[in-house]
Amino acid sequence: MSLVQRAREARQNAYAPYSKQKVGAAVKATSGRIYTGVNVENADHADWTCAESAAIAAMIAYGDREIAEAAIVSSGTHPICPCAACRSRLAEFGTKETVVIMATPDGSIERTTLRQLVPRHYRALRD
Ligand code: THU
Repeated sequence: MSLVQRAREARQNAYAPYSKQKVGAAVKATSGRIYTGVNVENADHADWTCAESAAIAAMIAYGDREIAEAAIVSSGTHPICPCAACRSRLAEFGTKETVVIMATPDGSIERTTLRQLVPRHYRALRD
């Protein structure tokens, strides 16, 4: 199953009753292992977890430390780009070449890299 499919499948379990924007993420570590995450909202709007954040936390919990590729599947007709905080989280464990795929449930797909998503990060991205 492709990384986008894994993110799409995970997205079904997202908990987004407030924004109605279900998001699923899947990160593939350089080991080849895949970790998924979903956004988790709560009534206190200050404390929402993004799907990317959840997937990265799972990756760290299972001992991987480097992301080769990430996929994010969101609602709507246009793919969403990771938020600023999630770009930093991806940058912490990725490299310039880390591929980021953004997709919608009906298959509209955009593909980019951390080099493009995180220009001039305060700590330079690894090569
Ligand atoms: N969200 C993510 O899961 N990832 C992002 O990169 C941006 C936003 C979630 C957070 C919130 O639950 C919903 O999308 C609407 O912002």
